[in-house]
Amino acid sequence: MIIGSKLYYFDSLESTNEYAKTLIKDAPEGAVILVDEQTGGRGRFGRQWYSPKGGIWMSVILHPPDPSLIAIIAGIAVCKALHMNGVLPGIKWPNDIVLNGKKIGGILTEIIDKIVILGIGVNLNIREFPDELEATASSVFLETKKHLEKKMVFDTLCKQLDDCYIMLKQNKVTDLLTEWRHYTILLGQQVVIEMPDKELSGKVLDISRDGALIVMRSDGKIMRVVAGVCHLRKK
Ligand code: BTN
Repeated sequence: MIIGSKLYYFDSLESTNEYAKTLIKDAPEGAVILVDEQTGGRGRFGRQWYSPKGGIWMSVILHPPDPSLIAIIAGIAVCKALHMNGVLPGIKWPNDIVLNGKKIGGILTEIIDKIVILGIGVNLNIREFPDELEATASSVFLETKKHLEKKMVFDTLCKQLDDCYIMLKQNKVTDLLTEWRHYTILLGQQVVIEMPDKELSGKVLDISRDGALIVMRSDGKIMRVVAGVCHLRKK
């Protein structure tokens, strides 16, 4: 196994992604940093990431040939690991794991000198969220009333991530995208995508081989979206 070639485990760290950055020169590919809680967990766009005890907070150090599909394979691996434990979340491009319309996990990839720090957060057994997150965030426990054993889900997740990463290294992109299509909640849906300088509305058609979302606008024009925040449009 590449993923988990070395495990750095701590009770508490500010952020596993930040800690991983201090290790990139020394740690082997696949090294995993896992903590029980983060005191300064970070999400995309510099947002805070609520990371109390009860969740899976981890980062993986990777040396991929091309980083563009790393968030995609991480989403597949998280969904597979939970599906194998009887919980059925989906992927909302680019990196949200959602269950019953609420976010239960997220992925943060950072690239330093071609090395990828893949941060994964899964809100597993969290029993409450701060007021400001309650409307959008949830946990596996709150949505299903199931308490899954963290170590078991973590081990399954590492194994699934390993399988996907090996497929990526073997350039089995078609197979990976088939898996992604199986887990995404977006295909055929009307969405609004917020980008730094504009907004795009349309219907999601597919994902491209480099992880861009393919969206058809109402005027029929096909757009490729490489980054943004995606919202499902209310019907
Ligand atoms: C997002 O959806 O905004 C991404 C959230 C990523 C959270 C994880 S938890 C482990 C790793 N360490 C961090 O500080 N962030 C990521």
